[in-house]
Amino acid sequence: MKNEKLLYLETFGCQMNVSDSEKIASMLGEIGYSLTESHEEADLIILNTCSIRAKAEQKLYSLLGRFRELKKRNERLIVGVGGCVAQKEGRRLLRKVPFVNIVFGTHNLHLVADMVSAAEQGHRLVHVDFIDNDTRLDLFPKADGGGAVARFVTIMQGCDNYCTYCIVPYVRGREISRRSEDILDEIRTMAANGTREVTLLGQNVNSYGLKSPGECDFPRLLHTVASIDGIERIRFTTSHPKDLSPSLVSCFAEIPKLCGHIHLPAQSGSDAVLAGMERGYTRGDYLAKIEALKKARPDIQITGDIIVGFPGESEEDFQQTLSLLREVEYADQFSFIFSVRKETRAAGFADTVPYREKQERLSRLQQLQKGITLERNRSLVGTVQEILVEGKSRKGDQMFGRTDGNRIVNFTGDSSLAARIVPVRITRAFQNSLLGELQNEPGGGIHA
Ligand code: 5AD
Ligand code: SF4
Repeated sequence: MKNEKLLYLETFGCQMNVSDSEKIASMLGEIGYSLTESHEEADLIILNTCSIRAKAEQKLYSLLGRFRELKKRNERLIVGVGGCVAQKEGRRLLRKVPFVNIVFGTHNLHLVADMVSAAEQGHRLVHVDFIDNDTRLDLFPKADGGGAVARFVTIMQGCDNYCTYCIVPYVRGREISRRSEDILDEIRTMAANGTREVTLLGQNVNSYGLKSPGECDFPRLLHTVASIDGIERIRFTTSHPKDLSPSLVSCFAEIPKLCGHIHLPAQSGSDAVLAGMERGYTRGDYLAKIEALKKARPDIQITGDIIVGFPGESEEDFQQTLSLLREVEYADQFSFIFSVRKETRAAGFADTVPYREKQERLSRLQQLQKGITLERNRSLVGTVQEILVEGKSRKGDQMFGRTDGNRIVNFTGDSSLAARIVPVRITRAFQNSLLGELQNEPGGGIHA
């Protein structure tokens, strides 16, 4: 019998971190740790961190501040920091926060169980070395075969794009694509255990395989995943517009299992700003790709990311971004104020936009997007959408799931519907979700 020990695991930032955290939990499960929601009762606290903006990084330090008291009360408590801030700070973190026991970087996930075992013996350890791509292929931690209805599958990591504002290439390292056979094995196991939807995950999935001799490219990978029995839906994120190839666009017309949603961050609608960011496309290039996508899948839902207040962004540049939002009619948008990351080239650019102005631009942009989102949600009222039911919604008597286009829908129904695709008529639209009624199919029951 394993001796039960409790792990409190907190994840910051992106879906890549969420997926890494699943793997951390699974590896620590092997050495006897089970998850707890309460940091008060934990034997081990792991913070899986994000450094994309300064705010995300500050969050780590304020949380660590709260844990200082816990550590005083329980000397045996182990505190570990992983992810992008760990990668960036390395040994400095041990000096800055003397009660931290272990620090593991983005290439060192596979060491986490050994590091925790050493910490149990009183050691303090740091592992933040980047590992070369050949060695790393064999070290990629595998996702467990658990059967959640919808799961993420990491297909590549790192980024070679070096957009001028972005810290990712410095903290996640060189781009690496996992072997397609490993990815497919993982998805087959998930499907056999009940997973119906997979989201293929990477910093720039469009360039999957392109730098790995003998490996298939991303469109080919999508076709192969679609041939796996039991997988009903496929999504992917994130895509870089410059690498969105015509053959990937065609996948939206050719693969029925590929959901009609793409996250395609524009970052800005102004050519001058895009050039400063070194994004490798113009507004015109971006819009041409959007048009091709809408042609391949007329009901496609498009989401994106925008940065406001990039160094030198004028009111006119910003107006270009607002007009891009109207033209694309995004289903939703993540938007951020430019945050200086000192490792990046944009940190050396003259930043002339006052902070108040940046805040104002952000709120104008968010207002505009809110209106577009609500209008799009309202346009779905009265339609029947196929919903993959993920589980019970926060309201007790309701279930929730997503449309093919990735909108969340709550509807009255019971748990027996979980993991099935059911028709739901949309009755009300809100800002962040839809409400619907389960429909009976003409032939009787509900199809699985
Ligand atoms: N400041 C603000 N936002 C940033 N992003 C990346 N780097 C920065 C930065 N320095 C945003 C981009 C990216 C998303 C994940 O985070 O919009 O697409
Ligand atoms: Fe960062 Fe650009 Fe790479 Fe995306 S493509 S992770 S924004 S450097």
